Amino acid sequence: MGVLSTENVLTIHDLSIDDIYLTLDTARSFKEVNDRTIKKLPTLRGRTVVNVFLEPSTRTRTSFEIAAKRLSADAINFSASTSSTTKGESLVDTAKTLDAMDCDLVIIRHSYAGSPKIFADNVRANVINAGDGKHQHPTQALLDLYTMREHFGHIEGLKVAIVGDVVHSRVFGSLAPALKKLGAEVTAIAPATLLPAHPEVLGAKVSTDLDANLGDFDVIYLLRIQQERIERSPIPSLREYAVFYGLNAGRMARLKEGAIVMHPGPVNRGVELSSDVADNARSLVLDQVNAGVAVRMALMYLLLGGQDGTIA
Ligand code: NCD
Repeated sequence: MGVLSTENVLTIHDLSIDDIYLTLDTARSFKEVNDRTIKKLPTLRGRTVVNVFLEPSTRTRTSFEIAAKRLSADAINFSASTSSTTKGESLVDTAKTLDAMDCDLVIIRHSYAGSPKIFADNVRANVINAGDGKHQHPTQALLDLYTMREHFGHIEGLKVAIVGDVVHSRVFGSLAPALKKLGAEVTAIAPATLLPAHPEVLGAKVSTDLDANLGDFDVIYLLRIQQERIERSPIPSLREYAVFYGLNAGRMARLKEGAIVMHPGPVNRGVELSSDVADNARSLVLDQVNAGVAVRMALMYLLLGGQDGTIA
């Protein structure tokens, strides 16, 4: 048992406020390690971490793999094209097979919401959800919280606009409740067709007009249009979407002084963000990626028995 109040991080709700802050504080120590020339610590030597990525991913899989390797764990990648799932093996059987190999930690990404829970029920290892369908992506929320906290010094009281494809977004599903839990104010901004039928389920303020209160927010967080999850087009065209909901130079000029721009990546340049905004100094997209490694190191360390924020 680690020092967190949970053995698995399947949703952001598994983490208490103390767990979240402990993870963010621990990540800060790992960030310092990541800035050294020699970035490796012996902390998880002899432990086996398996990355089960059954949905396309570059940055999240790489980030978890780098995190495990920096802690000296044996990191193994199990990906869709090479796995028996393409031969019809059920998720339960895949989980039991991995379990029989005595892994310590399983990181899972899958297009079906709830698959991390199936894994957690069938392996002895700790499980981290790296994104399940439209459901949850808790480590993305943690790295976003880390990025905001390092920038502003606090999360409480921040006004955060989360803009775009809310209805298909597991990033929203994890980040919005985490922000609320830590005392930030969340506004979901999207065309009505990219909001749930009953937007009150979001537990956030809701607006369909990006321009209305643009100058009020400390953070403008753009969500990627999830084209792979959209069956019938809820927007007339990406071009039109960009006109009404894209962040461009004109809108940038109207942001509050000190406001920052975030995006979980991969960015559709010219859709959620114009190219000049993506490369603007107020855009923290690459800081988010950088934070991802430290935050995932922290979570692995704390789940597998780390003590507190002190790292060798
Ligand atoms: C997110 C994801 O996969 O849910 N990206 C990521 O993890 N880097 C967001 C997205 O795909 O839009």
